Amino acid sequence: MTFVPYDRPVRSAFIGLGRIYDLNMRGYVGNPDVEVVALVDPSPQRRAQRQADWPDAAAFGSAAELAASGVEVDAAEVLLPIPLHADGVVEMLGYGWHVNMQKPMCNDLLDAQRMLDAAKAGDRILRVMENYLFYEPLRRLKAVAESGAIGEVCGYHVKMVGTGRGGWDVPWSSFEWQMEQMKRGRGIMVFDDGWHKLATALWLFGPVREVRAWIGNLAVGPGIDLDTPSTLIWEHENGVRGVWDNTIAMDMYLRSDYYTNDERWEITGSKGFARVNRVTGRGVQQPSLEIYSEGEMRSYHALDDDWASSFRESGRHWLRWLRTGDGPLMWSAQEAVDVLRFALAAYASNASGGVGVQPRQVTE
Ligand SMILES: NC(=O)c1ccc[n+]([C@@H]2O[C@H](COP(=O)([O-])OP(=O)(O)OC[C@H]3O[C@@H](n4cnc5c(N)ncnc54)[C@H](O)[C@@H]3O)[C@@H](O)[C@H]2O)c1
Repeated sequence: MTFVPYDRPVRSAFIGLGRIYDLNMRGYVGNPDVEVVALVDPSPQRRAQRQADWPDAAAFGSAAELAASGVEVDAAEVLLPIPLHADGVVEMLGYGWHVNMQKPMCNDLLDAQRMLDAAKAGDRILRVMENYLFYEPLRRLKAVAESGAIGEVCGYHVKMVGTGRGGWDVPWSSFEWQMEQMKRGRGIMVFDDGWHKLATALWLFGPVREVRAWIGNLAVGPGIDLDTPSTLIWEHENGVRGVWDNTIAMDMYLRSDYYTNDERWEITGSKGFARVNRVTGRGVQQPSLEIYSEGEMRSYHALDDDWASSFRESGRHWLRWLRTGDGPLMWSAQEAVDVLRFALAAYASNASGGVGVQPRQVTE
């Protein structure tokens, strides 16, 4: 790849102006690295609503209209529904735009390869953003594990409870494409939300050797099947084992400014433990990071533990990266394929009764 950093603000377009735009746009606000030149969404209401944030940006009903308009674009912030990711990203790379896309990258390895090939053919950068890697309590957790403060890492546990009450409104149109995903066996718990959990696992402890999974099914309405309760366990190549369990608590109220996910990450070390108490929601109202060692508990009271800040930092990282080309992309498209392989190995394991499956051996 012959990437040349920009010596001026990056001209960027938002493609998809739905629910998650509200958090993604935070990396762009007041950022001298970027000029927002275009907004794209087929919904006139969404375009009108978001135009207020960027009065000087041109608005279009499709990426094709933008590409034909003469408005010059360097990079696209792609916030499309998951079923549109592969075709949409290939199309936009084809217009010569660098792409920062949402997770999950896509549903299978064939589509992932199509996207990688399109980036290579056009000599463009494809990034699959992972905001959890920019959440300050999780960054501190990783630093603590690597510092030896809790001794040798013995294992870790990730927990997620989706609750039925609380949080922000999610438009019904978002559930419609999620239901399409469910029918394809790519559910909202294990694949959509789980992507973050699997990504943080790879980020914390490196490549995964083997995965075992038991994926549940909870029918909550006509055509609405949630892939829960589910438990995934895995072993990293360095020998560290992780486990993630997810459940749904339909009647539970969870205080949250965003989705109602009650989440925890807990690493056990030979001398102590370190735990992130919450991420998206505000379930456990203790300090977001606690570290136990030698009979003492250390609590971090002043971290930036607003989940939205992880989007801001991820977006700023991307735009700075385009200005400098320095450091890891977090994530590159190839790293995102490793997350996809991890998820596909879990599905393969579940389909064969929970046997161990190696992510590097999955083929589709
Ligand atoms: N990082 C995270 O934690 C996180 C959280 C939520 C959603 N997401 C991801 O963000 C993406 C969008 O999710 P959302 O919740 O905002 O969905 P949404 O349904 O609220 O918004 C999608 C928007 O895309 C628009 N759209 C549809 N077709 C389009 C097209 N061809 N061109 C341009 N726009 C089009 C829709 O009109 C809608 O406004 C998904 O990939 C989702 O997985 C990520």
